[in-house]
Amino acid sequence: MKDSIRNLIQLAVNQLISEGILPEDFVANIQVENTRDKSHGDFASNIAMMLAKPAKMKPRDLAERLVKALPEDPQVREVAIAGPGFLNFFQNHDALAQRLDAALTDAQVGVAQQQPAQRVVVDLSSPNLAKEMHVGHLRSTIIGDAVARVLEFLGHDVIRQNHVGDWGTQFGMLLAYLLENPSATETQLSDLEAFYRAAKQRFDESPEFAEQARGLVVKLQAGDPECLRLWQQFNNVSLSHCQELYDRLGVKLSMDDVRGESSYNDDLAQVVADLREKNLLTEDAGAQCVFLDEFKNSEDKILPVIVQKADGGYLYSTTDLAAMRYRSQTLKADRALYFVDQRQALHFQMVFAVARHADFVHPGMQLEHMGFGTMNGPDGRPFKTRDGGTVKLVDLLNEAEQRAYTLVKEKNPKLEESELQKIAQAVGIGAVKYADLSKHRSSDYSFNFDQMLSFEGNTAPYLLYAYTRVASVFRRTDFTMNSTLPGKIQLTSESEQVLAASLQRFTEVLYNIADKGTPHILCTYLYELAGQFSSFYENCPILSAEDEATRHSRLRLAALTGRTLKQGLELLGLQTLERM
Ligand code: ARG
Repeated sequence: MKDSIRNLIQLAVNQLISEGILPEDFVANIQVENTRDKSHGDFASNIAMMLAKPAKMKPRDLAERLVKALPEDPQVREVAIAGPGFLNFFQNHDALAQRLDAALTDAQVGVAQQQPAQRVVVDLSSPNLAKEMHVGHLRSTIIGDAVARVLEFLGHDVIRQNHVGDWGTQFGMLLAYLLENPSATETQLSDLEAFYRAAKQRFDESPEFAEQARGLVVKLQAGDPECLRLWQQFNNVSLSHCQELYDRLGVKLSMDDVRGESSYNDDLAQVVADLREKNLLTEDAGAQCVFLDEFKNSEDKILPVIVQKADGGYLYSTTDLAAMRYRSQTLKADRALYFVDQRQALHFQMVFAVARHADFVHPGMQLEHMGFGTMNGPDGRPFKTRDGGTVKLVDLLNEAEQRAYTLVKEKNPKLEESELQKIAQAVGIGAVKYADLSKHRSSDYSFNFDQMLSFEGNTAPYLLYAYTRVASVFRRTDFTMNSTLPGKIQLTSESEQVLAASLQRFTEVLYNIADKGTPHILCTYLYELAGQFSSFYENCPILSAEDEATRHSRLRLAALTGRTLKQGLELLGLQTLERM
């Protein structure tokens, strides 16, 4: 609806241009907002204030001219001028009701596919395989998963890429340890954390061991079959750990999405050769570097992107350049989104710039770093176990489920054990994910069990519960939320209108996420929607409505709310429950 209003205003602006009130070839930046207070209309624009200067008119006078020039639209009931010159648009409620009736019979709950459809690479999760996944990998996995789901829902062709770190120098150390302890069977390997620590200890205490480790990296990278075999064994164990977590988190990632650093190994020499051919390389203290003017530091010195070390070794940046080329040329992506810690912002700015200068990606390809902040402990300090170690993701999820179990049992002691466990799992895992998703991704946030498991506020338990309330309405009827319902939506009372206006906004919210990679706006939206449903439910009796037409209309509104909540939660990667 916002888009239609923007179009109407654009037509009015064009009209004023043709009348000579606004300068020829004038480009207006038209802003339309949803209003909070519906007595001021459903949408508002400050366009008259923005254009007053170029038009050399008082904003209110200009507003009047604009209103006169606005074409008729069946969706708009009235346009009023308010305050210094705001244009307030009142939506036609019959037209809105019709749209919602149409949404109700649509598999995508009224959300149209986004045009043009793009092929989008989503780089997400991407842990380093030498260690077990810890809480730091949670954000990339969860936020990336939600955005990938939204893009797919909107009709884009999404290619998930789990760019795991499976090729660094740490593998020399691990291989050396494996060789030293040939009995390190699968079972021992399965505690990767302990294995890594033991290897690291040997590395730090014994120069011979360290020497051997370094030799093994060279052998591995040169393709020595025995080294490769051990390395593969190690990776398989490590990747299956990751997969277990993805499955438990309900994240849409599989082994097929893994394309680790190692897979670009054979392209790295070519990347460097191509950079040289394009005259982008400079040798600095034996290392091969790209210096770009745009990366000057505060002392006016240019920061280099190093692509090959003096000893011939390649770097993280070199791999990313190879990966970008693969994503552009082989995967034919229109867009690539990187869900990686904010602290790597400079790295991405630099490799994106190098890739552009070197034509590694086609000129129209969008490259976007979707950075995120740090997850801190409840005290706001870096998240650590009591003895200072990193918190393992598995332990965190276990605790979340355990706590959810206790809570749900308290609330509903009569539940059967199997039911209780199912609910505890959905609530516990959902709470961890939702807490992360509901914060703006670029800010740091404090992990807090009590907050995320609260049944009040913008939390998973609140929303999951809100959904079960809608579901419970339908259990008392012969219909489900997905049935073809009789009657038509009619928007008579204020709480119906408010709810309807929110339902209509679902599309806009998803388009925004597709654009900016910010799932928190979907959380806020669903939270508000749930609140509006509550007021509607209190003010407008559904099953005991005064007449049949009203009952049908309200049942329809409830069904659309339920389906929107369910769809929204599913896009966030949360599993809904019918009762809890
Ligand atoms: N493995 C890296 C890390 O743990 C993240 C990789 C992100 N993706 C990329 N294409 N660089 O820091």
